[in-house]
Amino acid sequence: MQAAFVVQHGNNDQLRVGDYTDPVAGKGRVVVKVHAASVNPIDWKVGQGYFRLIPGQKMPCILGSDCSGVVESLGPGVTDYAVGDEVMGLVAGGVGHTFAERVSVPAKLLVKKPANLSHAEAAGLPLVGATALNFLQGRLQSGMRVAVVGASGGVGSFALQYAKTQGAEVIAICSERNRQLVTQLGADQVIDYQNCDPAQELNQVDLLFDTIGNLDPDKYWQAMVRGGVIGSTGTGPRDMEMLVDKFGKNLWLMAGMVDGLRQKFRGKRRHGVDYRMVFGMPGGKVMREIARLAESGAVKAVIDEQFPLQQIKEAFEKSQSGRVRGKLIINIAD
Ligand SMILES: NC(=O)c1ccc[n+]([C@@H]2O[C@H](COP(=O)([O-])OP(=O)(O)OC[C@H]3O[C@@H](n4cnc5c(N)ncnc54)[C@H](OP(=O)(O)O)[C@@H]3O)[C@@H](O)[C@H]2O)c1
Repeated sequence: MQAAFVVQHGNNDQLRVGDYTDPVAGKGRVVVKVHAASVNPIDWKVGQGYFRLIPGQKMPCILGSDCSGVVESLGPGVTDYAVGDEVMGLVAGGVGHTFAERVSVPAKLLVKKPANLSHAEAAGLPLVGATALNFLQGRLQSGMRVAVVGASGGVGSFALQYAKTQGAEVIAICSERNRQLVTQLGADQVIDYQNCDPAQELNQVDLLFDTIGNLDPDKYWQAMVRGGVIGSTGTGPRDMEMLVDKFGKNLWLMAGMVDGLRQKFRGKRRHGVDYRMVFGMPGGKVMREIARLAESGAVKAVIDEQFPLQQIKEAFEKSQSGRVRGKLIINIAD
């Protein structure tokens, strides 16, 4: 089969599109013929060697996290799916091996693709949806003030739509060029982070979701209600590059988690505000919720651009620019 893989950790020059051995469906797994997969920053971060401790990186390593496709074969013990079923799912952040014509996936991580979604739309939802729901679901209540930093991005555009459907008042923090997009997605207020300091504009926020992951909570405690929560998809003000410079590619994440714990204690003790790192985790339950939201039209995939598998390098470069609106999709099978 054709697949996109890195031959060793490094920059985009290590990325190849070429022949790769077909996977087989082991026990409890299915082989999915991948129609579309989405680009998530974790994919190229894994390729560059920032997450070497995550298993599943034997070289040459197929990258990719989530996908939508059709069940092609069933492993022993799989009873929930039949050959030909259209499915979507998050396999694993960065090491899900979905940038390929076929991928072997634990059946329990999949959900049937809603018929009203194309494969491209379905592929754009799993990782960003799992991340947004990890922070918002169960925490968000109707009437809350929710601020989404990076509301025009993959995680942010899902989070904004979800918060709106749950009855929140949503403040989108994005650049001016994305004002129209986030307004169409339901934002009640837009703060242009390039022309003002959002920390000075916000007040009485119940949930602040930093989907970019580099915000300094010390600037934002005063913007929160007591009992509020700040969630971050990253490591806060000491971002990945800074931590890698100081601690190296193996230890930076642990140092970032220690930073997160420090912020948590400081926020609770001094300001009555919780701080948490947010992770997008694979799982059947979260996938069923994402499919339900998409089927009802509550949440739509926002697609910036689509690429054929052969042009994955261009897609990675665009993702690395940090300027993507919604999602980049890699189309694989027709
Ligand atoms: N912890 C986890 O499990 C997890 C899961 C998913 C993602 N992440 C991480 O979260 C980050 C975001 O992921 P993503 O897929 O949502 O990224 P993305 O879609 O590539 O984000 C790009 C968007 O962010 C906006 N943006 C960039 N800097 C901004 C800033 N300072 N303030 C507000 N908006 C800003 C850009 O708009 P402009 O061009 O207008 O600036 C663009 O629309 C990545 O670092 C990713 O690795 C972590």
